[in-house]
Amino acid sequence: MSERKYRVAVVGCGLIGGKRSDVIVNDPRCELAVVVDPNEGAAKRLGERVGVPWSTSWSTVLAETPCDIVVVATPNAFLADIAVSALKGGKHVLVEKPMGRNIHEAIRMAGAATSTNQVLKVGFNHRYHPALMRAHEMYADGEIGQIINIRARYGHGGELTDQGVHVIDLISWFAGEPTEVFGYLQTAAWPIAPLEDSAFALMKFSSGALASFHTAWTQWKNMFSFEVFGTDGSVTVDGLGRSYGQETLIVAKRKKEGGAPYMSRTVYDEEDISWKLEWDDLIRGIETGRYMGTPNDGITVMRVLDAIYRASEQRTPIGLD
Ligand SMILES: NC(=O)c1ccc[n+]([C@@H]2O[C@H](COP(=O)([O-])OP(=O)(O)OC[C@H]3O[C@@H](n4cnc5c(N)ncnc54)[C@H](O)[C@@H]3O)[C@@H](O)[C@H]2O)c1
Repeated sequence: MSERKYRVAVVGCGLIGGKRSDVIVNDPRCELAVVVDPNEGAAKRLGERVGVPWSTSWSTVLAETPCDIVVVATPNAFLADIAVSALKGGKHVLVEKPMGRNIHEAIRMAGAATSTNQVLKVGFNHRYHPALMRAHEMYADGEIGQIINIRARYGHGGELTDQGVHVIDLISWFAGEPTEVFGYLQTAAWPIAPLEDSAFALMKFSSGALASFHTAWTQWKNMFSFEVFGTDGSVTVDGLGRSYGQETLIVAKRKKEGGAPYMSRTVYDEEDISWKLEWDDLIRGIETGRYMGTPNDGITVMRVLDAIYRASEQRTPIGLD
């Protein structure tokens, strides 16, 4: 740990800026220096709630307020410009997902991080849900063998660029490098065209693994289901807490002689600690260079998103090589 506290600025004082601020003010290694939002009411409300100064101008803050880390939690349209300015100003950055509006913005952010040698972390908080972390740890320890395929469902509350981003990141975290994708998009129940309220996609990986997912804004009772099937067993995560139902890890271990597998079931019913664990990982990244949600992880998701939209338009699988 460094001798003095990391000074942090949070840009964007909405739902996620508020969640991030709560974690930062409770981290003894950090000092929340300022919160920023062009909406004065939002900036003032959050600043007063967490007891720190607030501002309506991120460019003034970046120029004038000494800080080491900038959290960018604005609507997607502003993520890239603010993140790149912060990186060029010598700050480490935690930018919310998705990594900008498109692959070009993602690459621009990654380039700024490389050229300034700052940590750029993309906010993939789902990786830090305890059941998903444990599932990944079991996979990495060889407990389910080689991954054969993955099946994920997530809804409701958004389209491909919202919940789909988390699903694509989680699938790629387990299965590695995606090489080809296909998808169908549907706008059936909400007046959001050209955005979709359902996305069905297939992904193929360099290992030979396959994945399918469905993200939906028409999942009237919200749900999260993530199933990873390996040669020796499977890990399934159902629920993410609260309205998504108890976060539960179900493990099946294949019996070599066949028949019903050995089963175990663990419920994780503590409060959502993913935001705190993700913040710890950012600090680890700054101190050791090792962390998850790297620029490459973010770019992978953007490439897959871009390819699914093209695949659905062109009605053909799209290679990612
Ligand atoms: N990890 C997750 O699970 C998760 C969940 C929801 C949202 N997000 C991401 O977090 C980001 C913010 O989402 P949210 O739900 O907090 O949105 P929100 O609408 O609640 O808050 C966004 C805030 O940013 C402010 N803002 C707009 N332009 C700005 C600018 N130029 N500079 C500073 N602030 C500005 C708005 O006034 C608003 O207060 C998005 O990128 C979203 O994709 C991540």
